[in-house]
Amino acid sequence: MRLDVVTIFPEYLEPLNVSLVGKARARGQLDVRVHDLRAWAHDKHNTVDDTPYGGGPGMVMKPEPWGEALDSVIESGEGQPVIVVPTPSGRPFTQELAVELSEKPWLVFTPARYEGIDRRVIEEYGDRLDVREVSIGDYVLAGGEAPVLVMVEAIARLLPGVLGNAESHRDDSFAPGAMADLLEGPVYTKPPEWRGRGIPDVLLSGHHGKIARWRRDEAFRRTVRNRPDLIERADPAAFDKKDREMLSILGWGPGPDGRFGRVAPDVEE
Ligand SMILES: C[S@@+](CC[C@H](N)C(=O)[O-])C[C@H]1O[C@@H](n2cnc3c(N)ncnc32)[C@H](O)[C@@H]1O
Repeated sequence: MRLDVVTIFPEYLEPLNVSLVGKARARGQLDVRVHDLRAWAHDKHNTVDDTPYGGGPGMVMKPEPWGEALDSVIESGEGQPVIVVPTPSGRPFTQELAVELSEKPWLVFTPARYEGIDRRVIEEYGDRLDVREVSIGDYVLAGGEAPVLVMVEAIARLLPGVLGNAESHRDDSFAPGAMADLLEGPVYTKPPEWRGRGIPDVLLSGHHGKIARWRRDEAFRRTVRNRPDLIERADPAAFDKKDREMLSILGWGPGPDGRFGRVAPDVEE
């Protein structure tokens, strides 16, 4: 997979040389190219921003450097990239979107600063390419570089051969499949006792069925506590008899439309 990042702070992307993404680069699984937007700003001060039309605080990133930068990056490769525009006003970045983007051969990220990029740039490339405006959460950061690091890490770990154990992301929170729409429960490793705290007996039982059930029950406990919205919007067809029993213990039951909601307050969680 090829990844291009156009930014006014190339050094902010240094963490892409470290750990999982750095190793994937070193192995040639990821071709990451970071570009300095100011290379396409031609005045004495390499200006990339200007005052907003209509007034108001802050500055807006000028269209010309972005246009030249994106033309140059796009022309340097084969085929068409997906352009990922980090912005708090974009669609939420989810595990589902990470999976979708991990299947694309080429992504170009455009992290902005100031009040964002002149709208015409998004329109210009949106007319001929797949452009995704994406938010990593309901808060506003000073720039899009940290969101790019977040997205690249989430995407890169899904690429074949990047994680040491290909099964590792199967049970992740939000992973499509067995634990669909549930958060992952607690995990433990050796030693079996630490500061007087043991580990749940079932994990030592060697009984795969019981361990799987325990993990799913713990996932329900955690999801009910931290992200009840995930249970509320889950398709009830995804819940088997044991799931329903667990939800009932936790004070949750089906409503008139079959979807689950809290029916008893403060039952064991
Ligand atoms: C200060 S923010 C611009 C905020 C803009 N006034 C707004 O409210 O949409 C500057 C840049 O940081 C990045 N950014 C900030 N928060 C983000 C978030 N939650 N998700 C993705 N990108 C974000 C985007 O690249 C954005 O253009």
